[in-house]
Amino acid sequence: MLDPVSEVKSIAVLTSGGDSPGMNAAVRAVVRSAAATKIQVHAVYRGYQGLIDGDFKEFGTHDVSNIIQRGGTILKSARSQEFRTKEGRAKAAANLKELGIDALVVIGGDGTFTGSNFLAKEHGINVVGIPATIDNDIIGTDETIGYDTALNTAIEAIDKIRDTADAHDRMFLVEVMGRDAGFIALETSIATGAEIALLPEELTNIEEVKNLLKNMLQEQKRSSLVVVAEGDETGGALHLAEKIHDDFSQYDVRVCILGHIQRGGSPSARDRVLASRLGAAAVRVLTEGHSEIMVGIVNNALKITPMRVAVSKKKNLDYSLVQLAQLLR
Ligand code: F6P
Repeated sequence: MLDPVSEVKSIAVLTSGGDSPGMNAAVRAVVRSAAATKIQVHAVYRGYQGLIDGDFKEFGTHDVSNIIQRGGTILKSARSQEFRTKEGRAKAAANLKELGIDALVVIGGDGTFTGSNFLAKEHGINVVGIPATIDNDIIGTDETIGYDTALNTAIEAIDKIRDTADAHDRMFLVEVMGRDAGFIALETSIATGAEIALLPEELTNIEEVKNLLKNMLQEQKRSSLVVVAEGDETGGALHLAEKIHDDFSQYDVRVCILGHIQRGGSPSARDRVLASRLGAAAVRVLTEGHSEIMVGIVNNALKITPMRVAVSKKKNLDYSLVQLAQLLR
């Protein structure tokens, strides 16, 4: 724990892991709220790799002008292999100490937080995490930065797929992102009226899926959409297509993998506001003496979660939404 206020004179900020829309808005909020309290900010490029390589630049309020609406991250992101080694982390910590940086703000997902946890434990670096990932799989916050935008991107695409599916009476298997988490698949399936959602959190019984689809076709459904999370145990939409092909060979089954378009694009209003709140909160909690924590918003209020807790548990799906998806299909 830092001594409140006077201790924090200089901070660093980085983005790491898979980018998500709203990361720039979070960087902007960190820089501007730090500047408002006369805290110096060093931006770190390329995540933990930049921390190791000493890729820093001092940022003032003007360096974050005109970025709130931009997707991606102006700080770049990387998945650093070197940072996974003790030697790499020692270099990163030495660079922070050499510049007299009191704390590091990391913007990313669970891999990012695991990395910052190591820095704190091994080298006593003060860290605060801001949850940003399209996967929404971080506990201690109702939503992660980027999730809302990714949902809207996926929904817009799936609505278009429904149009053509309907025109041709076709079955579409649409794969959305989510290697370990089914939040995107579940909520897009509700929002697009998909017939079935296959989620990594649930066991997928292929026979059950086939029977559901056959029943729907007998009920004269003109088109059917199956939303498949990439991490579903079937192995994704292409594998699912292989597994059901023989039973549905008379139908024109098509596969569409939405992929990385879900990661890009201008952040939604909700993501911009969430990122602004969390960026400002990260700086505030540092000045209040907190460290090794993650900031989140739960029930519209700031929530502080110890970093070790944030990385130790997987966020559960809301099973009432799973039931809702099944009820309404
Ligand atoms: O950032 C999260 C995520 O988009 C996952 O949903 C997906 O499985 C993964 O990242 C893809 O990562 P990469 O950019 O390395 O392909």
